[in-house]
Order: sequence, then C-alpha cells, then structure tokens
Amino acid sequence: MTNARQVLTFGTRDEMADFMVEKWAALSGEAVEKRGRFTAALSGGETPVLFYLRLASAGERLSWKNTHLFLADERFVSLDNADSNYHLISETLLKNVPIPAGNIHAVPAGESDLQLAAAKYEEEIIKFFALPAGVFPEFDLIMLGMGADGHTASLFPGDIILNDTRHIAAPVSYDKVKHDRITLTLPVINNARTVIFLVSGKAKVSVLRGVADDRDPRFPASLVNPQKGDLLFLADAEAAHL
Ligand code: 6PG
Repeated sequence: MTNARQVLTFGTRDEMADFMVEKWAALSGEAVEKRGRFTAALSGGETPVLFYLRLASAGERLSWKNTHLFLADERFVSLDNADSNYHLISETLLKNVPIPAGNIHAVPAGESDLQLAAAKYEEEIIKFFALPAGVFPEFDLIMLGMGADGHTASLFPGDIILNDTRHIAAPVSYDKVKHDRITLTLPVINNARTVIFLVSGKAKVSVLRGVADDRDPRFPASLVNPQKGDLLFLADAEAAHL
C-alpha cells in the first residue's frame, strides 16, 4: 500500500467539496471492485455539509447499494435531535440517495445509557466486519473534521480516550462540549485505508499548521497517522491562510 500523506488546498469551499466528491467516487469504485463493498465513517460539524449535499447529487455512478455508512462520532442525543450527526447526514445526504436502510449504521445514541450505546455501536461494527477478538476494522474511508482546539471525531485534548488501545467505539464525557459523545477510537482511525480531514475557515489556520506541519501532540488530530493507509488534509484558502 502507498501510505501517502498530503495537504491539498482549494480556493473555495465549493472546489474542496467537488474534489471530495471525485475522491469519494474513486475510492468507492475501487473498493467495490476489489472487495464488493465500500465502507465509510462520516463526521458531523459544518465543514462537510457542502460535500454531503454535492455527493447527494453525484448521480448514478455511485454504487449506493454496496456502500455502508458509519459515524466517526456522534452526540449522545436522539437521532432526530438537531445536534445529532446522524440527523445532519440524513437531511443532507441519506434522504437524497438510494442507499438501503440496512447499509446505514447509526450510533444507537437514543439509548438511555452512554456506555451501553458505545458498547452497542462497537458490537454492530464487530458483527458487520466479522472481526475476531482484538482485531480492528479496516474502513475504506474515515472522514474527519478538526476543531480549533485540535479535536477530531470526539477525541478531545487531554481526554483519557486518547490512550484507549482496546475499544473500537468509546463513550466520551468532556466538560467543554454540550453533549456527551460516542467516538471511534484512535486505533480504528489509524487502521483505515484512507483518512481524509476536511478543514475550512480562518479559525482553523493555527490548528491546521500545528497538525499537518508540526504534528503537535497537544492536538488529538496530530495522533491520526494511518499505519497502512493514506492521510489527506483538504483545506480551503482561509484555513490554509493563502
Ligand atoms: C462533531 C465532529 C467534530 C467536527 C469538528 C469540526 O460531531 O462535531 O464530528 O469532530 O468534525 O468539530 O467541526 P466543523 O466542521 O464544524 O468545524
């Protein structure tokens, strides 16, 4: 495998979203051809919205029936809550494409208990990938965002979950965010075939530098370093400070 690490910058968010659609088409085409299915974990936040909308109108060249979608992280709220990542992805993408309901692997965040929801999500992933004990899934693609504090998925600076080498999905209670969360862990992210960060806006200038150029370990996003796969940072001109 190539194991490339690249930063690509775009004049506008539109250009970044269009590039991401082409990248998705290429990765999914290759995965379906080689393995019969495409597995991707998606993030919430504002940055990917334009991409989700564009992907929804990318047409019939995408094999939705062979695409399985997961969440890189989720807020511990019901799936119809405006803060739910599933809700966001559903409104912008899922409702507008012919993906079978069984191919959408939402985090069961409607559960009454945070630990239980994380455990059930982990079980769902183990079952889907038919994983033997102690083996991590290999997602074809994990799409991530980056917070100004360096968080990615729901991996926050200084959080104990950053040291988790055992779980696939973990509960997160972090006092600086509004909701508890459930997140894929670093070993899962670092086992993906391709990891792509989408980074946009002025507020991300210093964190993007700190992560992409300096690998500043204070930023959890710097700990993303796929062992066998490719790592791509897509940034708009504002975030890249062009
Ligand atoms: C979430 C995320 C989170 C997000 C970053 C960047 O649920 O909020 O998955 O990790 O990707 O906070 O968010 P923006 O794209 O809004 O800057």
